[in-house]
Amino acid sequence: MVKKISQLQYFCGLDLGTHAIKASIIRAKDENNLDVLGVFEARATGFKEASINDMTELAECIQRATLGIMQKTGIKIQAVQLGVGASFVAARRSSAVIPLVDSGSKVISKFDLRKVEAQAKLLGVNLEEEIVHDFPQWYKIDDINTSINPTGLMGRKIETNLLLLTANSMRMRNLTKAVHQAGFEVSSVAFSGFAASDVAVEKEERDQGCALVDIGAHATSVIFFKDGLVGDVQFIPWGGNYVTQSIAERLSLTIDLAEEIKKTHAQASVNPGEVSGEILVKRDKGYIPIRREDVCGVVNWEIENFLAHLEAVVKGSYLYHQLNKGIVVVGGASLLTGVIERIEERLKASVRMGAFTQGLSNSALYAASIGLARMHYLKKKEQRLGIQTPLNFKDRIVHSIRELCQEYF
Ligand SMILES: Nc1ncnc2c1ncn2[C@@H]1O[C@H](COP(=O)(O)OP(=O)(O)OP(=O)(O)O)[C@@H](O)[C@H]1O
Ligand SMILES: [Mg+2]
Repeated sequence: MVKKISQLQYFCGLDLGTHAIKASIIRAKDENNLDVLGVFEARATGFKEASINDMTELAECIQRATLGIMQKTGIKIQAVQLGVGASFVAARRSSAVIPLVDSGSKVISKFDLRKVEAQAKLLGVNLEEEIVHDFPQWYKIDDINTSINPTGLMGRKIETNLLLLTANSMRMRNLTKAVHQAGFEVSSVAFSGFAASDVAVEKEERDQGCALVDIGAHATSVIFFKDGLVGDVQFIPWGGNYVTQSIAERLSLTIDLAEEIKKTHAQASVNPGEVSGEILVKRDKGYIPIRREDVCGVVNWEIENFLAHLEAVVKGSYLYHQLNKGIVVVGGASLLTGVIERIEERLKASVRMGAFTQGLSNSALYAASIGLARMHYLKKKEQRLGIQTPLNFKDRIVHSIRELCQEYF
């Protein structure tokens, strides 16, 4: 039975993958104290790769995932933090420069940073797009002095460079509509790969340099971190469903059977010649044997394809030589046996599975939905602090007056 419990303590993340919709509910005492109460996966329908081809089916599927997680945890939720995958977003850099004063120079305030960032966002987005995330890269004062946080410095003009993650507005509106149709509110929308980093990447890794690779069903995202910032985001048009498709085509199997064989018998780490034995597959006329060597041959071929893409993306990034903490992987396809070892071998870097959660063997699959639930909690906490704390309100007034003074005197 589903109980109605205060919304303040329980948060739901809904990761809209093109293969599976993953839902998680967390109980948050504080940001370092999260209990994952449950996770639930429903096979995604209504998508055709990155487009919605059946709104009703998609809404039903979202409902299956949300009702499933509510049944499992006994927690009733009304709103979700929605996550969209790599197939829905694009990364782009944008910069803008503004004068700070007509003549002379002035102390740079937060107001100036917001103004130049707003300009860069305006210039970096197309008419039919919206910004899902913006990651400031650097600020340049008077063409020479580059800084990550220039507040308080003197200058005459300021330039900024942003890394934007954008999405098609109409698609986002349709995804939100599907959630509403399923009976839930949308707290806000985030990129699932970035949400996963919230629980999969440690602070030390972000500071010293690492890459988070989210291997999904149709696409893979690579987010590069350095100095605590997101410095680069790349996408690879490859995911675990390519392996399933190849197994099905090359061994003349149905997609469902190929998927099952992939999850239970496929290995990405071995030389196909070293594998022996057969898998018995049920057909109309009875059971037929399939050589494991043939399955591993197909998997290897696909994994080679993926590794070539990944190597090009990682080595092509300007942060390649700064990945001091190696690579963290999440996403359903990272669960394929041997994938981690293959990445490690190819990139000669340390690779680990991200988002370890006690009691959850496949937590890499749920990293994004757990990260989304955490984002939901942080957002609510920020709102509560902003509205309720009198001291905070006073501080904000004082802060605004100080900014205004800096602005005009
Ligand atoms: N145990 C497993 N072993 C191998 N592959 C797996 C396993 N579990 C899931 N997968 C594969 O992971 C993929 C789904 O991963 P995930 O749910 O992260 O994708 P998605 O979020 O739906 O897709 P996308 O992010 O591309 O929109 C599928 O290809 C599925 O077959
Ligand atoms: Mg995904």
